[in-house]
Amino acid sequence: MISLQNLEGSVVVVSGAGRGLGAALAVSLAEAGSRPILCGRNREALESVASTILERTGVQTQVVKLDLGDAASVARAVTQLKAEHEVIDLLINNGAMWLESSEEDHRPEEVLAVVNAAVSGTFLLTQGLMPLLRGSSRPDIVTIGSISGLPGAAIQTTSVPFYAAKRAQAALADGFAQMLAGTPVRSLVIHPPYLDDVEPGAEAWENASKRRKGERATNRDIVEAVLFAVTRPRHVSLSIVVDADEGGRFSRL
Ligand SMILES: NC(=O)c1ccc[n+]([C@@H]2O[C@H](COP(=O)([O-])OP(=O)(O)OC[C@H]3O[C@@H](n4cnc5c(N)ncnc54)[C@H](OP(=O)(O)O)[C@@H]3O)[C@@H](O)[C@H]2O)c1
Repeated sequence: MISLQNLEGSVVVVSGAGRGLGAALAVSLAEAGSRPILCGRNREALESVASTILERTGVQTQVVKLDLGDAASVARAVTQLKAEHEVIDLLINNGAMWLESSEEDHRPEEVLAVVNAAVSGTFLLTQGLMPLLRGSSRPDIVTIGSISGLPGAAIQTTSVPFYAAKRAQAALADGFAQMLAGTPVRSLVIHPPYLDDVEPGAEAWENASKRRKGERATNRDIVEAVLFAVTRPRHVSLSIVVDADEGGRFSRL
């Protein structure tokens, strides 16, 4: 029988954990026995996710302020995490700023924010937390990419800066995988299609697995892909493309 990785007691940092997929990942990982650390820009939103986790699992969750678009904020978060933890078992690089295509010019500050959150901030956070990951007996980095980040992907409704940032984020995951080859740390990547944002416990969450071909994927499908990837035996590193007819690689959006 295949021996799966156990998440029980694992310390997990989730960026962009205040809403959407990041919140769903944090709640689901807590339900799987992990101890999530919720990182993001909006402390109120993070506290609300922490309350949901406490209600659903009885687990007390730490909240850490983190703006991936601001190198000083990333450095503060890294310093705090290093002071308070000896080990991090799993880093989920989920936070990224969405920017839709537009007839209007994109403003310089939004272009920089998109690229800095997905690329520079994600790199600096991962680099900063590497000593804590190296302290773990089961260290994993999971990057949440996008089908937009795949080579030759259709641009669909994404802006060029977001499209480019997601391609760079896929390169970050590949670059880390190469740099970490021969070490215990795995770099895993999941590429979601356009998602319906459903919350753990909501009816749409419970019914997600009953969706038919042709319907859009949901947060739950990505959470399950992450849980699948991180529980594989440690000699296996997965890059998963989650696809769907609607909002997927070949969608006529
Ligand atoms: N939803 C989709 O259709 C879809 C499709 C493909 C890939 N993805 C990827 O999945 C991940 C999660 O996205 P989502 O589905 O939850 O929707 P989203 O609207 O793209 O949410 C982005 C998340 O990242 C956080 N974030 C944005 N800028 C940040 C920054 N500078 N510092 C820290 N956190 C920041 C947001 O928090 P705030 O509350 O602070 O804004 C939010 O939690 C992202 O990497 C996204 O690109 C999503």
